[in-house]
Amino acid sequence: MKATWKLADGREVTHDVAEGLNLMEAATSRGVPGIIGECGGSMSCATCHVVVDPAWAERAGDPSAFEEDMLDITEAGRQPTSRLSCQIRMRAELDGIVVAVPQP
Ligand code: FES
Repeated sequence: MKATWKLADGREVTHDVAEGLNLMEAATSRGVPGIIGECGGSMSCATCHVVVDPAWAERAGDPSAFEEDMLDITEAGRQPTSRLSCQIRMRAELDGIVVAVPQP
């Protein structure tokens, strides 16, 4: 399965992502710029913030209540399809997902 990150500088990178891996883990293991994942996926840092491409937002799902609170304090500012990428777990229906890394 694949995921594409649109970087803040306009470049795009696409990587293979194994099923079950979350998009923060996938990004940090490949060195995707702008995704830090400081808390390791425990929803306490928001340094894994991405903006899901609107075409994929419904499939990616809605944030949980706790994720909602964290999204309100993201450094780059929340957008309508913002998510914490540590909470998006790769599965077949997300194969090909596109997310943008917000401008810091
Ligand atoms: S990695 Fe910290 S909130 Fe996602």
